[in-house]
Amino acid sequence: MRRPISANTPVRGPATARAQGFYAGQHVPGTPPEFPDAANLTPHADGLKDWTQDDFVRAIREGKRPDGRELNRFMPWPVMKQMSDTELAAIWTYLRTLPPVADKKKS
Ligand code: HEM
Repeated sequence: MRRPISANTPVRGPATARAQGFYAGQHVPGTPPEFPDAANLTPHADGLKDWTQDDFVRAIREGKRPDGRELNRFMPWPVMKQMSDTELAAIWTYLRTLPPVADKKKS
């Protein structure tokens, strides 16, 4: 059975995800090469280092980065925006526990 597509979700648990640098932006498994890479969500300068929780919630609810640029529609924020404030706060809190990791393409 094929795994469901997961851009940022660990497939073998958080410890493995951290060790392998998941969440640091990478090609979304199972998608064509021309599809955009998922974003670096770690607290690295290549990722969300300067973002606040409000920035994060706005990105998920409105599909916009702090500078106002729209996210590529491949990031499924129109569905994810249905998450509650509590759920988004929980995800943000988790993302802030990740070690900062540079983008793979740049390292
Ligand atoms: C809980 C799960 C997810 C969270 C918290 C999340 C969060 C984010 C955030 C905050 C950004 C903007 C980062 C930035 O601009 O620096 C982003 C971008 C992106 N996400 Fe997600 N995402 C999730 C799941 C997904 C999934 C399932 C996909 C695709 C199947 C995806 C694909 C993308 C792509 C391609 C971008 C880059 C968009 C662009 O460059 O315009 N994400 N994500």
